[in-house]
Amino acid sequence: MARILIFTGKGGVGKTSVAAAHARLSAGEGVKTLLVSTDMAHNLSDLFQCPVGREEVQITENLYGLEIDPDYMLEHEYAHLGESITAMLSQGSEKQEVSLGDTVMIPGMDELFALLKILDLYEQGEYQRIIIDCAPTGETLSMLKMPELFCWYMEKFFPIGKAAMRVLSPVSNKLFKIQLPDKTAMSEIEKMFVRLIKLQELLKDREVTSLRLVTLPEKMVVEETKRNYMYLNLYGYYVDGIYLNRVLPEEADNPFFREWEEIQGRYIQELKEVFQGIPMLSIPWYDSELRGLEALDRVCREVLAGHPVFSIIEHQAGECYGKTDTGYRLLLPVPLLKKEKLQVYQSATDVILKVGNFKRNIPIPNTLRGWEISSAGIQEQTLYVDFRKEERSGL
Ligand SMILES: Nc1ncnc2c1ncn2[C@@H]1O[C@H](COP(=O)(O)OP(=O)(O)O)[C@@H](O)[C@H]1O
Ligand SMILES: [Mg+2]
Repeated sequence: MARILIFTGKGGVGKTSVAAAHARLSAGEGVKTLLVSTDMAHNLSDLFQCPVGREEVQITENLYGLEIDPDYMLEHEYAHLGESITAMLSQGSEKQEVSLGDTVMIPGMDELFALLKILDLYEQGEYQRIIIDCAPTGETLSMLKMPELFCWYMEKFFPIGKAAMRVLSPVSNKLFKIQLPDKTAMSEIEKMFVRLIKLQELLKDREVTSLRLVTLPEKMVVEETKRNYMYLNLYGYYVDGIYLNRVLPEEADNPFFREWEEIQGRYIQELKEVFQGIPMLSIPWYDSELRGLEALDRVCREVLAGHPVFSIIEHQAGECYGKTDTGYRLLLPVPLLKKEKLQVYQSATDVILKVGNFKRNIPIPNTLRGWEISSAGIQEQTLYVDFRKEERSGL
């Protein structure tokens, strides 16, 4: 089974360098590896000093590169999907005919295409490892919430095959194994819906996909890494590695650097405490930029070698519903989430979680329709939402 590793973090922390070093190490192990950039400000060509672009290209033995270009993909590979989305969105408007020329990129659609491309690559089975170099945190979080969000909208506003769609939602799908609708009977929109479900399953399959956070021992970056980690957990993504980049070597005897070492030491300590139990690797602050194969090999040799960086590390399960004495409980591990930041609501079909500007709708399985949320909170870094058949009690 192929492995997908997604590297994320704040702008400029070293995501591309660290992702590329992994790709290089992987290829060196004789494993056919694809490095994919989903950052629109692509720089793989610059890093490898050879052309890498919108079609897969071989960089060295076993190492391939691809810089995703959503416009190109829309034109060449996903024209029909673009048309069906545009058709869907223009339903009810005066315009009846939709042609490719009318296809517009709605917000989030380009990110969605990038992910659908990754699903295609995974299914084609050409590569044993797919390593994804992402855009900075904010864009990556909005990319990663897209599959679920799109499904949610489709399900809400397009009644086609609604019964089938409901049972396919990520939560209930795991609980109630129900067959996909017959392929031949599906409309374009239903086909797209099924692709999106598959995409969610792939990205949340903890045997295949995991996320790695790249960070620096600096206040702002540490804070943003903690937030990023919390939101990724909130969306049910699995983080199994932290890379501390630009760590100063200890032997520096210049007072200027000694001061910086102390500052870094404080944040390294904080990161170790916060991310206990998650493998963490430190990358030294090198005296030159990480460009070219030699620089990447140095990172492989000095940092990654000897660590099981491609393995699946033992982990907690993601969100799940379970039975309790009084009803049902939804559990979702969200370390670092503070109770006062969390708001929980219920609609007819979903549990709605709000944390700051982020909102996630988790579908309520059919069996719990008509049940009410009786309480919610955080226990041992895990969010719980209890359901009871009685009346709602003041949430
Ligand atoms: N440990 C390091 N030592 C020296 N230079 C580094 C290190 N990590 C990254 N760089 C340099 O910092 C810049 C930003 O790194 P990059 O990997 O492109 O970050 P991101 O992809 O997160 O924006 C690049 O010029 C890279 O060569
Ligand atoms: Mg980058």
